Amino acid sequence: MLDSAAKAFFHLLARSRTLKHLAARYGFRKPTSFARRFIAGETVEEAVEAARGVQARGLLQTLDYLGEGVTTLAEAAAAAKDYVRIIEAVTQSGIERNLSLKLTQLGLDVDRASAVDNLRTILERARDFFVRIDMESSRYTGITLDIFETLWQQGYRQIGAVLQADLYRTEQDVQRLLQFGARIRLVKGAYKEPKSVAYQKKADVDAAYSRLLTRLLREGNYPAVATHDPAMIDLARRVAADHQISFDRFEFQMLYGIRRDLQNQLAAEGYRVRVYIPFGREWFPYFMRRLGERPANVGFVLRGITFDSG
Ligand code: FDA
Repeated sequence: MLDSAAKAFFHLLARSRTLKHLAARYGFRKPTSFARRFIAGETVEEAVEAARGVQARGLLQTLDYLGEGVTTLAEAAAAAKDYVRIIEAVTQSGIERNLSLKLTQLGLDVDRASAVDNLRTILERARDFFVRIDMESSRYTGITLDIFETLWQQGYRQIGAVLQADLYRTEQDVQRLLQFGARIRLVKGAYKEPKSVAYQKKADVDAAYSRLLTRLLREGNYPAVATHDPAMIDLARRVAADHQISFDRFEFQMLYGIRRDLQNQLAAEGYRVRVYIPFGREWFPYFMRRLGERPANVGFVLRGITFDSG
C-alpha cells in the first residue's frame, strides 16, 4: 500500500472531472496504455471477449460497466440505457450473467429517486442476472444500504451488497444485512477515508477484515471474499476447513489483471474464483484507485512498460 498522502493524491486525481474527460477521449486508444492491464476495453464486445477468456480458465466473472459520480439526470438515464444494452449483449453472448454497478453512475448524487428508478429499470431487465451494487466512499454507505434493503424488500432478490472492512460501522452493517440473508462481498475498502470513520493503518484494516471474514464464512449467505491478500485468503481457507464449509458456499473474488497466478491456483484447488472485469470509456477514476493501492503500479506506468499480472 502507498502511504496515505500518496493514496490521497491518487484519490484527488480520481475525482478530477477534467482528467476523466481527457482520459476518456484520448488515453485508452493508445496501444501502450497501462490502463489496459486493469480494464478489459471500451466496448461490451471487448468485455464479453475478456469474460470468455476468464471463463475458459475455469473462473467465474462479473462485468462492471465503468462510470460513477454523474452530475446530470441525462447522464444517469444514459448509463441505465447502456446497462440495458449490456444486459442484452451478455444474454446473447451466453456468458455468465453477473454485473456489478455503482449507484452514483445511476444518478445518486443528483436525485435519489431517479437513481432508484434507474436501478429498478436495470433489475427488471436483469431478472435472471446477479447484480452486485458496489460500495463507494463512506458518504454513500448509509444511503446505498437503505436503497439495497428497500429493493430487497420489494422482491429484487438477485442483488448483492458490498461492505468495506476499513469502516468502523461495518460490523453493524454486517449484522443488519445478515438478518435478511443478503449476499455480501467483503472488501478492504478502496477509498481514502477520514479517521473519524475508518481505520487508517493496514494492520487495523487487516484485523477487521479477518474478523468480518470469519463471521461471514460461518454465518453469511454465500459470501464473496474479495481480496488479493494471501494472508486473508489463507485465513478463509482455514476457517472453511475448520468449520466444514464446502467450496460451493462461498467464493473468492479478484480484480481483472491482478494476481492471475493466484486466481488460477485457487481455481485449480477447487475453490470458486470470480474475476471482476471493468470496461468502458470512464476508466480513469477506477484506474487511479488501482494505482493508489500499489506503488509498483506507478513505477510501471512511468517507465512505460507492460508487465506480468503476478
Ligand atoms: P491489499 O491492498 O493489502 O493488497 C494485498 C496484495 O494484493 C498486494 O500486496 C498486491 O500483491 C496485490 N494488490 C492489491 N492491489 C493491487 C493493485 N492495485 N495492483 C497490483 N497488485 C495489487 N472496494 C470498494 O471500496 N468498493 C467496492 O465495491 C469494491 N469492489 C471490489 C471487488 C473486487 C472483486 C475486489 C477484489 C476488490 C474490490 N474493491 C472494492 C477494492 C478493495 O477495497 C481493495 O481496495 C483492493 O482489493 C486492494 O486490497 P486487497 O484486499 O487486495 O489487499
